[in-house]
Order: sequence, then structure tokens, then C-alpha cells
Amino acid sequence: MSLQKKISALCSSVQDIGRDYAPAALASSFSVEDMVLTDIITKHARKVEIFTLDTGRLPEATYTLMQQVRDQYGDVVQIFAPDCGSLAEFVATYGPNGFYKSVEQRKQCCQVRKLAPLKRALSNKSAWLTGLRREQAVTRADMQHKEWDELHAMPKFNPLLDWTEQDVWDYIKEFDVPYNTLHNEGYPSIGCAPCTRAISKGEDIRAGRWWWENPETKECGLHVKS
Ligand code: ADX
Ligand code: SF4
Repeated sequence: MSLQKKISALCSSVQDIGRDYAPAALASSFSVEDMVLTDIITKHARKVEIFTLDTGRLPEATYTLMQQVRDQYGDVVQIFAPDCGSLAEFVATYGPNGFYKSVEQRKQCCQVRKLAPLKRALSNKSAWLTGLRREQAVTRADMQHKEWDELHAMPKFNPLLDWTEQDVWDYIKEFDVPYNTLHNEGYPSIGCAPCTRAISKGEDIRAGRWWWENPETKECGLHVKS
């Protein structure tokens, strides 16, 4: 399918979600995929809202992009932060970088910094959207365009599921969409600063995320099925 056809199919599916599942919102980590969806939403599907989970540990380049999006598109992204009390308790118990010590501690950090804020972000929503692509990971191969999110009791849509990395970059270049400059420095997948590193040529695109863990555990819990 040509990129033009993929774009018009994407527009209609995002518009349909905005119409049929209002209030629906895109979860954006400001990845290139989320930037494609942000561009589509702000131009063609304004009914869909957008939010981000600011863990407090994002790379400086992500905050730069967050500001750039605000300057270019307006105040379109609602920001959710971790609860101060829970965060202070967590850091006091495990230390600021306890996540390197065990998968358990790492998951608890993701729980306080991402999952609890996600729950709040979705509390008044009827559906959510993500920028997940099938190609990204072994854990994502069998995902569907529309899934039932048991935990939040609502549908979850992955409209870019079958887009290739090339499709995403072709869109970014064609519409001059801003993107995270870390992508120019060997970071195909970007999360929190202490849990993301650059990859070398030939490495898996998620090799730089939680690089000290096995591929099977490398999900923060935002996208695990119950
Ligand atoms: S993760 O589970 O490993 O962190 P990844 O970085 O690949 O996820 O992003 C996949 C999708 O999850 C993004 O396209 C976005 O929809 C959502 N997502 C991930 N991190 C965040 C975040 N900090 N804020 C909002 N959405 C996020
Ligand atoms: Fe904590 Fe790392 Fe998870 Fe970010 S990715 S919430 S720093 S464990």
C-alpha cells in the first residue's frame, strides 16, 4: 500500500475512534510514532485528546521536544506526573536508581512513575490510543488494532500497528513534523534517561531499553495483557 493510502486509512480510523469512543485519548511518549499520531490528530481528528506521562526522569531532548510541540501545536498535550507522596516514599525505600538492582524494583519504579499516572489519565476516558508497532518487539508481534484493556476496562487502539519504521519516517519528513533529536544519535526507542541507551548498527531496535534485562521482561507494564 502506498504511503498516501496508509495516511488516509490512518486518518479515517483515528477520526472514527474520536467519534465513536469519545472521550478517547492518545498516550504520547513523544516517540516518532506518537508524533505522527499527534500531527494527524491536531490536523484531522481534534476530538481525540492527547496526554503524556512525565516520569520526571525523561531525557533532556524529550523535554525540549515537549516544549517544541507546545510552541508549534499549542497546549494540546495534557501532562500527568507521578504522585509526590508515593514517589518520595518509593525513592526513600529503594534509592533513586534502585531499578538497576532487580526487575522487581524496576517494575515498581515504572509502577509509581508511569502506571499510576496512566490510571489517573484514563480515569475519565472511554478508550485510549497508542503508537505501538508490531515490528518493535517480540512482545508486540501478536497485538491487534483494537484490544480490550482489562486493567482499565476500556478499548485500546493501536492504529500504527502495521506501519513500518520507514513509513513513520517518510511521514515525519513529508510533513516536517518535529521529532526527538536523540533519534539522530542512535536511539530508535526512547524512554526514561537512566533506562535508555544508544544502540549499535545491527542491534535490535529496543536493545537500548532496559538493556540489562532479558527481551521477555522488557515492557514497563503499560502494554501487558492480563
Ligand atoms: S514502553 O512500554 O516500552 O515504555 P514504548 O516506549 O515502546 O513503550 O512506547 C509505546 C507506546 O506506549 C507509545 O507510542 C505511547 O503510546 C505509549 N507510551 C510509552 N511511554 C509513554 C509515556 N511516558 N507517556 C505516554 N505514553 C507512553
Ligand atoms: Fe523508572 Fe526506568 Fe521505569 Fe522510568 S523506565 S519509570 S526510570 S524504571
